[in-house]
Amino acid sequence: MERPETEKHGGAKDEKICLITGATSGIGKATAMGLANMGANIVMVGRDRGRGEAALAEIKEKSANPSVDLMLADLSSQQEIRRLADVFKEAYPRLDVLINNAGLFRSKRITTADGLEMTFAVNHLAYFLLTKLLLDVLKASAPSRIVNVASGDHSNGTIDFDDLQGYKGYKGPKAYSQSKLANLLFTYELAKRLEGTGITANCLHPGAGVRTNFGSGVSGVFGLMVRALRPLMISPEKGAETSIYLASSPEVEGVSGRYFVKKGEARSSDESYDAGLAKRLWEMSAELTNLPA
Ligand SMILES: NC(=O)c1ccc[n+]([C@@H]2O[C@H](COP(=O)([O-])OP(=O)(O)OC[C@H]3O[C@@H](n4cnc5c(N)ncnc54)[C@H](OP(=O)(O)O)[C@@H]3O)[C@@H](O)[C@H]2O)c1
Repeated sequence: MERPETEKHGGAKDEKICLITGATSGIGKATAMGLANMGANIVMVGRDRGRGEAALAEIKEKSANPSVDLMLADLSSQQEIRRLADVFKEAYPRLDVLINNAGLFRSKRITTADGLEMTFAVNHLAYFLLTKLLLDVLKASAPSRIVNVASGDHSNGTIDFDDLQGYKGYKGPKAYSQSKLANLLFTYELAKRLEGTGITANCLHPGAGVRTNFGSGVSGVFGLMVRALRPLMISPEKGAETSIYLASSPEVEGVSGRYFVKKGEARSSDESYDAGLAKRLWEMSAELTNLPA
């Protein structure tokens, strides 16, 4: 894990400090670029030093904003997420915007260092754990914002509590939709728990088919479909618009617990509004990350 200098960055109150996961490519990188162009302090989180340093150099150069940093963490590892939160708090006095964006699709079931199914661990549990670990600094920085990048594909998902980890016949699309439904359930429950704190939590769909690295290198029907549809997809910059809007627009000041598509509020699937389901998922997520519910 990259350790920045011990001196604290981003002290000025008018400089927004934004931490963005999955900022080395696609929507996350375009979001980092968009917010850097607005003059924010950016903390990019990536897992690969080479890709991270290349994206960092590109964003610094194109935005002419020197306040862009890189922190390395593999978000499939809870130990690395905990270290990331510590390193961030050591280096920065505040956090104005947390954007949980890193995500993946896996056609075959693989497990993380913690023994958890990869899609569920990276796409949902990493959002849950990193957010919980940064809540103290977000609260101290209020008004602050949490933005969770979900997907319209959540509407194909169900939370299979009997087989959350996909032991019984893992299917990539099922695991992915489940993880994206989990992003919505998490956001709605989080917003409820954060009422009165000055922290808002919203989620979004970046667009159906954003031309990123998502699904590249994936075998099977899903991989074929992604590659065939690439020419019809929208740009990462277009895909980042709603993330940037939720992170920065005064129009959404104080708005919380909502789902956005194309910078507008939208209704998500009926299942995503099931408060009992959200509570159960929250408790299960706390158990799987060794946190109090
Ligand atoms: N593309 C679409 O059409 C689309 C549609 C709906 C929703 N989304 C959502 O948008 C988000 C961003 O995806 P994208 O399309 O921009 O895909 P992408 O280009 O593949 O970017 C994904 C980012 O997540 C990072 N990441 C993956 N696994 C990680 C791990 N274990 N630890 C740390 N970082 C990790 C990747 O890092 P590396 O560079 O190291 O791989 C990359 O920076 C995801 O949450 C996805 O579900 C995308």
